[in-house]
Amino acid sequence: MTQCLPNILSLVAAAAILFAGCSPSTPESPRRSRAPFGTLGGKEVFLYTLRNKSGMEARITNYGGIVVSLLVPDKSNKPGDVVLGYDSLSSYLKATSYFGAIVGRYGNRIGKGRFTLEGKEYALNVNDGHNTLHGGLKGFDKVVWEADESIPATQPSLSLSYLSRDGEEGFPGSLKATVAYTLTDSNELRIDYTASTDKPTVLNLTHHSYFNLAGAGSGDILSHELMLNADRFTPIDSGIITTGELKPVEGTPMDFRTPTAIGARIGVKDDQLRFGRGYDHNWVLNRTGEGLSLAARVWEKTSGRVMEVWTTEPGVQFYTGNFLDGTAIGKGGKAYAYRTGLCLETQHFPDSPNKPTFPTTVLRPGEKFTSTTVYKFSVQ
Ligand code: GLA
Repeated sequence: MTQCLPNILSLVAAAAILFAGCSPSTPESPRRSRAPFGTLGGKEVFLYTLRNKSGMEARITNYGGIVVSLLVPDKSNKPGDVVLGYDSLSSYLKATSYFGAIVGRYGNRIGKGRFTLEGKEYALNVNDGHNTLHGGLKGFDKVVWEADESIPATQPSLSLSYLSRDGEEGFPGSLKATVAYTLTDSNELRIDYTASTDKPTVLNLTHHSYFNLAGAGSGDILSHELMLNADRFTPIDSGIITTGELKPVEGTPMDFRTPTAIGARIGVKDDQLRFGRGYDHNWVLNRTGEGLSLAARVWEKTSGRVMEVWTTEPGVQFYTGNFLDGTAIGKGGKAYAYRTGLCLETQHFPDSPNKPTFPTTVLRPGEKFTSTTVYKFSVQ
């Protein structure tokens, strides 16, 4: 403190010293702000903006935990929005593509919408032919989540919770799920999931952003180069249900162990590509122990943007937007045509509740489910 005592001979110098080093603490700028986004069923829906110190900005709504926009700098440091989405809540309410959403209670498919747990068979709402996809008719992407406003706005974080009641969409047990989004100063969008239940249930939470590293609405993603850190994938049948096998990618169009343009083999004659109408499969990640492990790396040449995906999950669904058909009119009036976004949905394997050899998705009372995925951006 002695160096901070005012020097009567030089008030100006003293003031400068005080300002530089000894003021109690300079107020931190807010890194999270909130604006109204509409109402649903009497509940207020907000659009939160998170900003880091390195040029990234995410807008996230508590409807479906949806990432509405994600601004990421390109190789000339110019920010661009790299996720598909809509400008208004009303568009999200009509949407069918899960743009940017948190998906649950069970992300991906459960064959015939049925599974048996502890000797009891459960019948779920089916919404994808005879199957249950992404939680059923009204999954976690279509509900209003509660935001934890007690987290200081100086943190670029948003924590959302949802209580899914016992029997919702046919799933057993009241499940409390929390999803925390954080923008780090190393240009990462980090997602931390936690959950607990009061009865045995099955759970598979994921995030469903459609990325286009050249910018949302700028064209297809076929020239993006992809690396998937996986020696095996889970083959599907013609109904996009996993067969239960773990098949080597070696010698197939599913081999992305070295960076390859997404479009390089998407059109080849191959049963798996035919069943998925392109890539719509789960890869079995080459994991190294517990904790975050590299799942995927995507590079888009013109913008120079790179996205790495790190996860604690055992699998990733790589989906090439094969169901997009140009009818979705997104942000700024841009139509999202066939294959203009790619999803990397970190997850447990599809239809695990019916595939006893897959890693379990069962959550029991007293257990705490945790899972983390990081989307890390850079340029090259
Ligand atoms: C996932 C599925 C796809 C499709 C999309 C949403 O990626 O695997 O088959 O349902 O979600 O359209």
